[in-house]
Amino acid sequence: MVSPELSTQIADLFRLDGVTAVITGASSGLGMRSARVLHAAGATVVVSARRVERLDQLVQELGNRVVACPGDLAIVADRERLVQAAVDVSGSIGVLVNNAGLSKPVAATDETLEQFAKVMDVNLVAPFHLSQLAGAHMLKAGSGSIINMASILGLVAASPMKDVSYCSSKGALVNMTRQLGCEWGRKGVRVNAIAPGWFPSEMTQAEMFDDPNGAQFIERNTPMGRAGRPEELDGALLYLASQASSYVTGQILAVDGGWTAR
Ligand SMILES: NC(=O)c1ccc[n+]([C@@H]2O[C@H](COP(=O)([O-])OP(=O)(O)OC[C@H]3O[C@@H](n4cnc5c(N)ncnc54)[C@H](OP(=O)(O)O)[C@@H]3O)[C@@H](O)[C@H]2O)c1
Repeated sequence: MVSPELSTQIADLFRLDGVTAVITGASSGLGMRSARVLHAAGATVVVSARRVERLDQLVQELGNRVVACPGDLAIVADRERLVQAAVDVSGSIGVLVNNAGLSKPVAATDETLEQFAKVMDVNLVAPFHLSQLAGAHMLKAGSGSIINMASILGLVAASPMKDVSYCSSKGALVNMTRQLGCEWGRKGVRVNAIAPGWFPSEMTQAEMFDDPNGAQFIERNTPMGRAGRPEELDGALLYLASQASSYVTGQILAVDGGWTAR
């Protein structure tokens, strides 16, 4: 016989009622999906990106328990403003999803130092700084979950594609996740990452999904034989955000149809 107590416990495991969650890069793709999912789980979501009109649409759609804080994560003051906006909502931050990112694929021989630094700034420095800023509040409260949106390209090379700045930034994000997870492990703050395989989004649409060569490349090299569907990241996100992963830190969860298992 199913224990009603256990059924309730399991149902509650992924709930985020009363939790304030910050999601960067919420104006499109995986970030917008993440905001919708955490909101549906009960969280109050503080959403950020540069495109104000996209955030306004999301605010309208979600209706309540949502605050938009537009900004450019390459700018230090905008990162500080975002964390402050989240603290202003409820006095604490329960979840930070470092999702915003960019990719400028180019051969390593043609990569400019400016472009390399720009990618590192948004994909690595901003997640570190936001973790530091939000982490200060989490450490004070003795709880919190930080989720970094890494990539399979932080675990393996992109070859034959050329994207050294992106691969470098995501590789560093992976090990930053492990280090922060260990540094803050005894203080109740968990830090983990999701490493998605190929998912349709503005970042991947033109080069990978609209181009028949790109689409075939994904199908051929993914053990499951297909790209990911947007909803197939929901479980990993909810797991890492909630009490379901209360004894998990410093981990990289690949959601990649087996790409990195090869
Ligand atoms: N799609 C995939 O297959 C895949 C696979 C592995 C990892 N990822 C990672 O998943 C994350 C989301 O990517 P996506 O696929 O959803 O791509 P996307 O649709 O292009 O979304 C990128 C998001 O980052 C934001 N962003 C970029 N630069 C920013 C900046 N300077 N300041 C603030 N926000 C900025 C963008 O918002 P604004 O332009 O409005 O500022 C946008 O909301 C990224 O970290 C990406 O590396 C994606």
